[in-house]
Order: sequence, then structure tokens, then C-alpha cells
Amino acid sequence: MLSIVSIFLSVLLAGANPARATCSPSLLGTNISITNGPLEAGFSLNGPALVSQPISEGISEFAVGISDFGRRKWTLLKVADEELSLTNTGALPEMLPFEPPIVSPQSWIFECSSCVSEGSLIGEGCFVVSPSDGRCLNISNAAPAGSLVTLGDCDAIGGSINIYSAA
Ligand SMILES: *[C@@H]1O[C@H](CO)[C@@H](O)[C@H](O)[C@H]1NC(C)=O
Ligand SMILES: *[C@@H]1O[C@H](CO)[C@@H](O)[C@H](O)[C@H]1NC(C)=O
Repeated sequence: MLSIVSIFLSVLLAGANPARATCSPSLLGTNISITNGPLEAGFSLNGPALVSQPISEGISEFAVGISDFGRRKWTLLKVADEELSLTNTGALPEMLPFEPPIVSPQSWIFECSSCVSEGSLIGEGCFVVSPSDGRCLNISNAAPAGSLVTLGDCDAIGGSINIYSAA
């Protein structure tokens, strides 16, 4: 009986989230780049928004801090200015002042399909999820460099983010 219920549940969950990834890369104490194909999340020169930019080899944009290690939630601080933290404003993701205690809009969960380290690649096929509303970071690979990084429906975006850590 129990197994029928759990089979039913897993079919249901698989149906809802066909490609949802399962591992969480080891981010403690790392500085990272959050990339999609040839682009990565970078910072707008004109405000707190994020924009896509060509990957800068060996240069990390985000310093990872702990939000809730047990649940693998992280804060993503700007390497060049750790006063600023990636924040889900409810609209765009923006770099806003980091204000402890850490709240859900300043926490992020990484769900990847592979978390094996290969050189500087530490997470592959990832969703970067905001626990505050369940939306995912969208670094569009179809849009040109300089386009806004947004938040959107995770399944529509797909798990295509790769995480690199500069050694
Ligand atoms: C991460 O970046 C910060 C700020 O530039 C630097 O102080 C720190 O040493 C870096 N950490 C690692 C692990 O590279
Ligand atoms: C992702 O961002 C691109 C470019 O800004 C946009 O065209 C696309 O609709 C977004 N996708 C989702 C699922 O929000």
C-alpha cells in the first residue's frame, strides 16, 4: 500500500518537475561565476540590476556567504563590494545592501544535475532558485550580452546554469 502511494507520488513529482536537478554544489568559502553558455551574470553600470556579459575567465563576480548551511541556502555578495547582496525584489534580481539577519529574498538555493568538480567547474545544469517565491535566475542565452538578468518560472527557464569557481 505504502509503496503504491510512494510510486504514485514520485510519478506525480516527476511529472511536475521533469528535469529538476538534485545535487547542491559545495559553495562554502568560494567566489563564483554564474554562467549560461558563453554568458555570465554581471553587474549593470547604471544601477542595481544584473546584466549578462561574456564570461570573464578566472574572474568571479559573487562571493558566497552562508545563509542556512543545513538547507544549502547561500547569500551571493558582490566580490568587489561585499556590502551588496543579490536580492529578489519581487520583480528583478538586484544588488541591494546586505542587511543581516539574512532574509529569504537574500538567500539562494542551487540545484544542479552534476556537482562533480572539474577544474573550475563546480556545478553543472543548475537552477538558481529564490526560496522567497520559488522563481529561478534567468540569464538568457538567446538574448544578446547586456540583456537584463531576470527571475522567472524555473521549468520554462530550464537547468542550464553552470557554476565556476576561480581557483
Ligand atoms: C573572494 O573575493 C574576495 C574579495 O575580492 C577576496 O578577498 C577573497 O580572498 C576571495 N576568496 C577566494 C576563496 O578566492
Ligand atoms: C528570460 O530572459 C529573457 C531575456 O530577458 C526573456 O526574453 C525570457 O522571456 C525570460 N524567460 C523566462 C522564462 O522568464
